[in-house]
Parts: sequence; C-alpha cells; structure tokens
Amino acid sequence: MGKKLFIKTFGCQMNVYDSARMADSLAPSGYLPTDSVDDADMVVLNTCHIREKAAEKVYSELGRLRLLQEEKLQAGGGKMLIAVAGCVAQAEGDEILSRAPYVDIVLGPQTYHRLPEMVEDVSAGGSGPVIDIEFPAEDKFDHLPEEAAPQGVSAFLSIQEGCDRFCTFCVVPYTRGAEQSRPVSAVVAEARRLVATGSREITLLGQNVNAYHGTGSDGKDWGLGRLIRVLAEIDGLHRIRYTTSHPRDMDDALIEAHRDVPQLMPFLHLPVQSGSDRILAAMNRRHTADEYRSLIERLRTVQPELALSSDFIVGFPGETDAEFAATLRLVNDIGFSQAFSFKYSPRPGTPAAAISDQVPEEIKRDRLESLQQLLRAQQDAFNHAQLGRTLPVLIEGSGRQPGQLLGRSPYLQPVHFDGPDHRVGYVADVCIAEIMTNSLRGTLALPEAGDPALRRASV
Ligand code: 5AD
Ligand code: SF4
Repeated sequence: MGKKLFIKTFGCQMNVYDSARMADSLAPSGYLPTDSVDDADMVVLNTCHIREKAAEKVYSELGRLRLLQEEKLQAGGGKMLIAVAGCVAQAEGDEILSRAPYVDIVLGPQTYHRLPEMVEDVSAGGSGPVIDIEFPAEDKFDHLPEEAAPQGVSAFLSIQEGCDRFCTFCVVPYTRGAEQSRPVSAVVAEARRLVATGSREITLLGQNVNAYHGTGSDGKDWGLGRLIRVLAEIDGLHRIRYTTSHPRDMDDALIEAHRDVPQLMPFLHLPVQSGSDRILAAMNRRHTADEYRSLIERLRTVQPELALSSDFIVGFPGETDAEFAATLRLVNDIGFSQAFSFKYSPRPGTPAAAISDQVPEEIKRDRLESLQQLLRAQQDAFNHAQLGRTLPVLIEGSGRQPGQLLGRSPYLQPVHFDGPDHRVGYVADVCIAEIMTNSLRGTLALPEAGDPALRRASV
C-alpha cells in the first residue's frame, strides 16, 4: 500500500482522459498519483503516435527513465516499474521492448482496464515484461472502477473512440481501431457523477466525436445532437463542449443543438486540413473546400456567436504552391479564433506515406510559417474584438496572483480577473479590459450586486 504513481501524458485530450482512468484503475492496488517522477514506484508514459516527433519523444523519455530506474534500485528504493501506454504502444509494441528492454509493461489504449492485473504479474517477478495491445471484444469502460478522482470544474468525458474515416495521413484508425460509441445511459451516468463531484463543464471526447451513435433509452442509435440535449438537462452542468469532429459528420440535429441548447458553448473545433479540393480528395476527406464553407455558413446562421477552430496540414504529398494558397484563401474566408497547424509527417502504414511525391522539408517549413502567421493574426484580431465586451466566464480556480481568479470565456480563452475564491465553479460576468498574448484580463461586472453576476450559465 501507499505506492506512488507518476503518469506523463503526451498528445490529445483523449490521452489526458485515459491517463486519469488509468490512475483510477490503479488506486485500488494502492497506487496514489505523485507529481514528481523521482520518487515514483511506477511510471506510465501515455504516448501519442500522430506525428513522428510525438513518437520519438517517447524514446528519449524512456532513456531518462532508465537512469532513474537504475539509481532507485542502487539506492535500495526497490524497482521502479515502467509502463508504456497509448498509441505508440499500440503501433510499435514489440519494437519498444527491443529498443527499451527495461520497460515492464506495454499496453494499448483498449486494454488499460487490465493494467492492475499486468502490474500484479510483473510485481510478482519472473514473468519478464508483459505486453497487451489487443483490441479485446469486451468494452474497457465496463471494467473500470466507477469511483473516479474528481476532475475539477472542467472535465473530460470520453463518449466515442476510434475512427472509420481513414484519412490517408492518419494513424488513428490503426492505433485506436474501429469507431465505437458508449451507450447514452453510461455517458449520462458518468456526466452525473462528474457534476456531483464539482464539475460544471464537460467536454465530450472522441477521435471523431460527432460520429457518435450510442444506443439510447429507446434501443435506437442516438447521434451527438440528441445526446447533448439530454446532458443539458443535468442540473448544475453549465457548459458542454465536444471535440474532435469531422465536417462530414455534422448532421442537422447537431447543428440544431448549436441553435437550441444554451449550455452548448459557441465554439467549435472542426478540422478542415486543407483548402484545396485536390488535396482534400487525396487525403480522403470526402468534402470540398466549398462544402466546408457552406457548412460554416449554416452553423453561423443558427449560432452567430460561433467561434471556430481547426487543424491544418501543410506539405501533404504533392501539394503545390497554388494548392497551399487555396488553404490560405480558405482561412481568410472563414476567420478562425484559434487553430492548430502541422507539417505533414509520413506515418508508417498509412497510404499517404507511400506517395513518392513528398514535399521537401524547407517548403513545408516556409508554408507552416506563413499559415501560422495568418492564423496568429486572426487569433489576435478575435481576442481584440472582445475588448470592452462582458463575457460569461466559468471560474476554474485561482490565478497566479493573490486574489486573482482564472476562468474561460465561452470561446475557450483563459480570462484572469480579481474576485473571491468561493466563486470557483460559478459563471461570472467579466468585463474584458486588456488583451494579453494568450489570455484576457478583466474585471468582475456588478461585483457589489452579489449574485446576478454569477447567475448566467451561457452567452
Ligand atoms: N502529419 C501531420 N499532421 C497530422 N495530423 C494527423 N496526422 C498527421 C500527419 N501524419 C494532424 C491533423 C489532425 C490532428 C490531430 O493532427 O491535422 O486533425
Ligand atoms: Fe484521423 Fe480524424 Fe481522419 Fe479519423 S477523421 S482518420 S481521426 S484525421
């Protein structure tokens, strides 16, 4: 009893969620989370395989852990177990053990509910490393403990996993497997538990979350729009978000939820990847740039406040200057409040990696720079447009300065302002007074009036 667990998480929010579930599953075996790797009895690296750089980070991290493991053993501190979880484990299981034979456990994203058993096996000794990267028939969510450590004001909830879209650049369909949705009742029960432990905002997660089609109370498949309406009925849940989506899976019910459900925040991360129709086709995205434009128009018609985020890939094999220029045009047409952009990174086993016409590194670098410059300018403009506005801010905790609170606007911008601690978990109206590089500063509106400033849950 009383062992210390250190989990380092790479990659997406899905991994952040999975890491928390792994910690929950190891709690009954006596492992408690620690923030310091130095005194850990067990270290889990929850890894990301989406781009080459992300995968390589794991091996350099393992090199450092090996030294710590040796030091601990020599100092008489016992064996520090090392586990590699997540998508690198899934994709490179055996290779990890040959490159880093001191690793004790390798487990994929579908088997983390079996972690306690695996820890028991290696702790008993004699078995050597254990590896489990199956796609088991049973649902891991049915085998996880119901008790979960509270996630705080803003929580993640995984509702869908895997992807059937097979974009030609992407490893997700291979590492996370076929698309699977959790039943509505399981999602609602978990959401209620989160709210009961103090969460006020839930971000629904999935690799392709708007492909959600979980079994509903009537035995039929429910889409994400319908699920969101049911979640919005939970008392105390002020805000709902979802990520990441595919444009082809934005159905009418989901678009209407943006119109009708005040708890659904006016912010949408909807990756487009490219503005060129030829590249979009080569990526197997199954939509054109104009179809994306019209979709955004429909969304903005029903929810004029909607702020948009996206993912972009530059230097996809064969991308010409003109095709890249089409991406810049699309960005100019839409106007994003924030976005992520990446250089194309060939992933072994994906169709695009086999295309001979790879774009040289310098060209990718230059394109990324000009795209990011444009996106940064749009983000700055969006932030500056908030100056003087009063925004509802969900207070997530204390800021760095004494007396300061930190929360987020509906558009996901961090907002700092002065106010009393007991307001954590409430939505406050904050008048935006200053724009910083990555956050906003403001003052509490109507502080003397007491609660009116706390009442509003949405824009
Ligand atoms: N190279 C570069 N970026 C990629 N992404 C996914 N696969 C690759 C790749 N092979 C990006 C996409 C996706 C985001 C999560 O990561 O933009 O939306
Ligand atoms: Fe990957 Fe997203 Fe395409 Fe699925 S929809 S293959 S997760 S990029």
